[in-house]
Amino acid sequence: MEFCKFMGVIILDKLVIKGGTRLKGEVSISGAKNAVLALLPATLLNEGVCTINNIPNISDVKILCSILQELGAVITWPTPNEITIDTRHLISHEAPLEMTSKFRASYYLLGSLLGRCHAATIGLPGGCNLGPRPIDQHIKGFEALGAKVEVTQGKIVAKAKKLIGNPVYLDIVSVGATINIMLASVLAEGTTVIDNAAKEPHVVDVANFLNTMGADIRGAGTDIIKINGVKKLQSNVTYSVVPDQIEAGTFMLAAVATRGDLVIKNCIPEHLDCLTAKIIEMGGNVEIEDDSIHVWMKDRPNKAIIKTQPYPGFPTDLQPQIGVCLAISNGTSIINESIFESRFQYTAELNKMGAKIIDQGKSAIFEGVKELYGSSVEATDLRAGAALIIAGIVANGETKLSNLNHIDRGYENIEEKFRKIGANIVRITEED
Ligand code: EPZ
Repeated sequence: MEFCKFMGVIILDKLVIKGGTRLKGEVSISGAKNAVLALLPATLLNEGVCTINNIPNISDVKILCSILQELGAVITWPTPNEITIDTRHLISHEAPLEMTSKFRASYYLLGSLLGRCHAATIGLPGGCNLGPRPIDQHIKGFEALGAKVEVTQGKIVAKAKKLIGNPVYLDIVSVGATINIMLASVLAEGTTVIDNAAKEPHVVDVANFLNTMGADIRGAGTDIIKINGVKKLQSNVTYSVVPDQIEAGTFMLAAVATRGDLVIKNCIPEHLDCLTAKIIEMGGNVEIEDDSIHVWMKDRPNKAIIKTQPYPGFPTDLQPQIGVCLAISNGTSIINESIFESRFQYTAELNKMGAKIIDQGKSAIFEGVKELYGSSVEATDLRAGAALIIAGIVANGETKLSNLNHIDRGYENIEEKFRKIGANIVRITEED
């Protein structure tokens, strides 16, 4: 429980990290959060039973499953990382508004319910505070297929007499819009072509899952995706979620920051080619195996220039984590954040730990310091939280990290995984 008010006292979960340790050993990567949060809504397009394994045990998945059950899905959990979802009989196309606002990926319910029921109502999506996060490109795609979409009183209402395949050019490379338009077009009449599509591994994972159920999607992973509409999806399928390249990258950068030696297992190394190149540029050592990456670092990282880009460029979701490495690097580094308006909120927390970072909005300047020192800091978003854990492990002294709800949304058993590779980290509950 993140916090509760009892007799006027606020009780908070916090992570207490005693720093100065070098991480060593092996860590196993979970299924990708940003894939599973699309795969689960995608099951609504299928009149059958899906068994999905390698599911990360995270809070966003739990909320999403509760929403699917409200819509009529019958869900069982054979293990904490495996789920069966029976979506033969849906009872509603209106997701509970108070639940969809808890996370960003609820917008995928629009595409899948529109595709299956030709109607969908959800509350405006929530998610990490990274600046304005419009969904105009999602709506552009739905309207191209013939839907009417209204955003009113904090909810989004989409309706269509029928859905007709059409070409859609995305004005901005958008992961969410690419996947959402794919979901809405699977059962449309005719062919939809998404141009300027996102190419992230989880876009490919969703297309592969839909094709396993009988959809006809080609070109996922390139910037042009073609979806030939099919009449129905009526399959019983089993599918495994792609490994989380962002979790894998988080641990690679933890090895660099702590001058450690880690083997990151159950990942797909080519999903991290850009990060591997950057780590080598910064003086790190990387060895690639089929499904694992070995990263070790002997000295302070070299300075670097980072520009976040859509895949296969440097991922914005690893920007805070590499920021920790630049904060303690040799020299002055720059990060240009091209995807989100304000993804440097974590730098103020790092500066409390002795870093010297100037946040300029869409870019930040890192003047490398020799060491960080422990402090009380707050996770400002999911990836910032992971970065501050790494900073706490690097720092001299004790760090207390609060706002763990952000971290628990996207990382499975994160403190346990860090503890197994040498971090001195415990979760406590204390009065704030
Ligand atoms: C997804 O967010 C991920 N979230 C984000 O991960 C990730 O950072 C992002 O993709 C980029 O890779 C999930 O998958 C749940 P976008 P999404 O649409 O879909 C603008 C994490 O830490 N845009 O690719 O919201 C948008 O404002 C999270 O795991 C529009 O202008 O990202 C942004 O500037 C954080 N109009 C840019 O495009 C739209 O209709 C990219 O956004 C849609 C997006």
